This record gives sequence, C-alpha cells and structure tokens, in this order.
Amino acid sequence: MWQFQTFLPVGAEWRSHLQVGDTPLLDLGTSQDIRIWLKDETRNPSGSLKDRASELVLAVAAAFGIDEVVMASTGNAAASLAAIGAAQKTRVTVVVPRDIPVAKLAQIQAFGAEVHRIDGPYEAACTLAGKLAQARGAMNRTTGINPFTREGKKTCALEIACQMDWQPPDWIIVPTGDGNILSAMAKGFADLKACGMIRQLPRLLAVQTAAACPIAQAFDPALQGDALGTCADSINVPAPMDLRAAVLALRHSNGHAVVVDDTEIAHAVMALASRFGVFLEPAAAAGYAGFEKLQKQGLFASGDRVVLLGTGTGLKDLRVAIAAAETDSGPCLHPDDWQSLLAPATPPEH
Ligand SMILES: Cc1ncc(COP(=O)(O)O)c(C=O)c1O
Repeated sequence: MWQFQTFLPVGAEWRSHLQVGDTPLLDLGTSQDIRIWLKDETRNPSGSLKDRASELVLAVAAAFGIDEVVMASTGNAAASLAAIGAAQKTRVTVVVPRDIPVAKLAQIQAFGAEVHRIDGPYEAACTLAGKLAQARGAMNRTTGINPFTREGKKTCALEIACQMDWQPPDWIIVPTGDGNILSAMAKGFADLKACGMIRQLPRLLAVQTAAACPIAQAFDPALQGDALGTCADSINVPAPMDLRAAVLALRHSNGHAVVVDDTEIAHAVMALASRFGVFLEPAAAAGYAGFEKLQKQGLFASGDRVVLLGTGTGLKDLRVAIAAAETDSGPCLHPDDWQSLLAPATPPEH
C-alpha cells in the first residue's frame, strides 16, 4: 500500500516490515454479460482488509512516538492491529465481543495483544476502549473514531483503479458493518478524481444483513431487516460508527444498498469457494450474496464491470462451511468398498 504514500499522512519510513496491500484483483469472468473481479484482501498479513488501517494507524503512532494503541473490534480489526503491532513493537490492547470466532481470538492472542472480552454489545466495547485509551494515554484505533483507518483502507480503492488502468469499474460491492470500508472506498476514488487520475467515480453498493442494516435503511427506508442474529458477525453492527459518512458515500456515488439473509450468505460462501476457489468468511461473502440477489432483480446493465471486495478469509470462521460439509458428506466408506467410488458422483449443489 505504501506505493501510494503521497496520498497518505505519513511516509513509508514508518511502515512495518510486513507486506500490507498490493493484493491481487482476480478476474472471475462474466455472468450474464456482467464482468466480475474480486479484490482478494485475504492475502493481507492477518487475512483481512483491516490490515491497511492498522498499518497506517501504527505508522502514525510510530511517527508521533506513541507506544500503545487500544481498540474495540468485532474481531478482524483486532487481529490485524495485534499482528502489525507485533511487527512494529507497539503495545496493543483490544476489547472484543464475548462470542468472537475462536480462531480470531486465538490469532489476537498469538500476536501477543492484551485482550478483554466484553459481555455486552459492540457499542459497550467501543466505550470501554475509549476510556482505556484515555486513561493510558494510548492512541484509539477504533473504527469511526480514528480518522487514519479510512485513510489506510482507501489504498484498496487506489490499487483497484491502478490495476484497472485508471478505468474504475461501474460498481464496487462492499460488505458493510460500521461503514468505514464504504466511506474509505469513496475517499480513495474521490482523491483520484480530485487529482485528475480518474474521470468517473464507481457506484458503491452496500451489502448488509437482515440482522443489522441501519446504513442500508438510512439510505433506502424501504429495505427491511428482521433477523435476530447472523453468521456474518463481522458486519453485525446495529449502531455503526461511520453511518453518516457511509450514507453520504452511497448518495454521492449514486450507489445502492441491499439486505441479505443467512441462507443467501451461506450459499455465497460455498458458491465462491466451489466456483472460483476463493474462500471468504461469511461477512465478506455477503458481498457476493448481494451481487447475486441484485443481478436477479436486474440492477446491473449489460456490460457492467463489477468489483467485489473479498474483505476477509474463510479460514478464521469455518462454521458455515463446516455445517455445509456435514450436510454434503456421504456415509463413511469401508476400506474394501472402493468400487462404489467408480459410480459417477453428484457434486454438492452450490
Ligand atoms: C471481513 C469483513 N468484512 C467487512 C467488514 C465491514 O467493514 P466496516 O465495519 O468498515 O463496514 C468487516 C468489519 O469488521 C470485516 O471484518
């Protein structure tokens, strides 16, 4: 991401030794005349797009001589801060929800961060992180509080434009919780337009879940959300920190919003994996669920170019894939029964 240091508030001399960004833009081919790419953010050091924000926040902290960073997170951002904090030798303290996926908790602990699980909603974690940061004189990286998270994440937009020869796509599909990735994409493309690198802004498409869709509803009050919980925990944010900026980003880009349910998300996890070899966590696969839903509704025009943000790896949250595998796997074979394998197998339907 540091190839774009002129667009960032501090220079590459403050970067970590990890490689954040410069992730591939995978060409997934066409579907009914719509060309699809996936920006594979799972290739970042901790497996999610959040590394772009953590890398910049920790670089700013280093530039200002701040030796501790605190944050609240639904999981990925905390794992990311812990990973890059270890590389930067900066102390990291995180507050996370009690039901955080176990692999994300293990990842945070392996990177040596101080972890506090909180028995309450995400907003309570944000309040506690703010108090801790103030009491300890630490920087607060919490999304929507720290302005550098948006600046770091906007490098994803800069890379997409560069990888597409400065002809941005018609649509960018963004799985949305707090709305920070959404507003960061808007910021990145706005910066490029302001300096004459691109002519046209892509339309932004927010995908939220039926369990938490305040940004989608603020943009389009006709959208309904009625589920109690969701498997896409990373975007399960009932009170988004960046609601206003996200809605403005949608309006300014002539964007769109859609709400998907857990059945559609689980289907998207398995479809992305089996059709394209890309394994995303449910929150990230929600973007593809939104794409499929809106394609059926005829939102996209023939010839549209669409980029999905593959915001996080499926390896950290296997619950949906395990549930599908348990349903799809046949009975256990007797070792002598190999001839039954010669009968044509029916692959699971995704
Ligand atoms: C994998 C993944 N996708 C999407 C998001 C949503 O990002 P934001 O909260 O900025 O809307 C998150 C946030 O935690 C995430 O971890």
